[in-house]
Amino acid sequence: KSDKSLILVSNRLPFQLLEQDDQLTMKQSDGGLVTALISYFNAESNRDVFQQKKWFGSADFPEKRWKKFKKQSDVQTDFTIEPVFIDKKVYNKYYNGFCNATLWPLFHYFPSYVVYDQEFFENYEEVNKIFAERLLKVIKPGDTIWIHDYQLFLLPQLIRDKMPDATIGFFLHIPFPSYEIFRLLHSPWKEKIVRGLLGADLIGFHTHEYVQHFLKTVRMVLGYDHHYRTITMQDRLVKADMFPLGIDYEKFSTASRKPEVVQKMEAITKNFPDKKIIFSVDRLDYTKGVTHRLLGFERLLEKHPEWIEKVVFVMVIVPSRQIISKYNERRILIEENVGRLNGKYSTLSWQPVIYRYNNLDFEELCALYHVADAALITPLRDGMNLVAKEYIACCSEQQGVLILSELAGAASELGEALLVNPLDTEEMSEAIQQALTMQPEEQRRKISQMQKRLIDYDVHSWVNDFLFQLTEIKQQQKTEQQ
Ligand code: UDP
Ligand code: G6P
Repeated sequence: KSDKSLILVSNRLPFQLLEQDDQLTMKQSDGGLVTALISYFNAESNRDVFQQKKWFGSADFPEKRWKKFKKQSDVQTDFTIEPVFIDKKVYNKYYNGFCNATLWPLFHYFPSYVVYDQEFFENYEEVNKIFAERLLKVIKPGDTIWIHDYQLFLLPQLIRDKMPDATIGFFLHIPFPSYEIFRLLHSPWKEKIVRGLLGADLIGFHTHEYVQHFLKTVRMVLGYDHHYRTITMQDRLVKADMFPLGIDYEKFSTASRKPEVVQKMEAITKNFPDKKIIFSVDRLDYTKGVTHRLLGFERLLEKHPEWIEKVVFVMVIVPSRQIISKYNERRILIEENVGRLNGKYSTLSWQPVIYRYNNLDFEELCALYHVADAALITPLRDGMNLVAKEYIACCSEQQGVLILSELAGAASELGEALLVNPLDTEEMSEAIQQALTMQPEEQRRKISQMQKRLIDYDVHSWVNDFLFQLTEIKQQQKTEQQ
């Protein structure tokens, strides 16, 4: 075992710590970043690579609660959770402000939703500095620091300034937009973000396009060119590359063997006898294209009335970022549309859309993936979209059809899905019709091809690939210096 540590850093910690009637409970956080990293973090097989694994993230629970929790649980593990406590007001302007009202809409091609506020940016800088100070107290020479996502763009350089030899990787979980979009940020912010990122040794993205967009941005903002995705700066080489995030294939593909999942599957199918089930699950987010999706489903019922009473659309929305007005407005809009559609088509014994606004636990999620005849995943933009991959992994009898937006990063790996433009209602309704009538043999062919790809590059290969390339670039930097 080496004496080196892996330091993971993300804004979101893998769990929330809830307290009710003096009882503490841990609840897994929502979203793709946590789902992916938690699989790696807990994996037995990775234990001996690093002496310790530490996960730093901002705490959304009070420090007092954390201390109580630490006292109660005396489990000794070689991975630890390290919450960073941040003043509420500062956090609010950083998280609900610059992260999710400026960067998130811009990087997902919603420029008209972007809020420009200098104070938001200053608080973003402040939180990145708080993370840096905390990390600099624990990082030892030889440790690997792996920073995740748009909330921490400035962190790589803040660490580099104080530890010039540190090994720093950065992975972006959302799209990196075209320079024409990126340039809409205010000038000092643009430069600070690019410089911040270039503090890393390796910068990873989900797709080839995002890498190209980033490289062009570096050239336009700072004038650095690249050679085969390696940027030569005055003092260092920095590599940008593509690492399409995978899922914990084993965990999802074997879920249907768990008795709790089987029980839940039976309960669902009992509720909808002789009906086709279409399923979707998304965090509440305007990027997920939920209102357009409902229009596509409505068009199907209009054009193909033979599906009336024969199909249900189970649509789960997971609450997210509720304080931000664009999110709250979206929830109202979705609920109005569900109500209108159900009002128009329901009969006394049938309702076309079964809508749920809540989290799903792992067993419920897998049961739904399993029983669904089709998954309708139609984001307007999405860095990757793990839901699409999880659905494919859960099609254990290789029956099921994935309808996927061509604007999700996952579309570049899942070409056998029925790819749709999420804004084209007509096309979406036709894809649903095609999915509902697809022959079992064709379903099997498509699913098995996609499954093979997901097995080949699962979340463990993703981590190993990234960390291997990080070591390579460090090696290359040393050779260049000699
Ligand atoms: N998921 C979740 N809570 C739920 C239901 C699903 O955290 O109640 C998970 C789901 O399994 C998937 C992730 O949320 O791993 C969503 O990832 P995706 O990449 O599709 O989108 P993101 O939410 O990260 O934008
Ligand atoms: C996306 C982002 C993650 C984020 C997740 C959930 O996957 O890329 O960084 O953690 O959404 O959003 P939240 O704001 O609740 O952390």
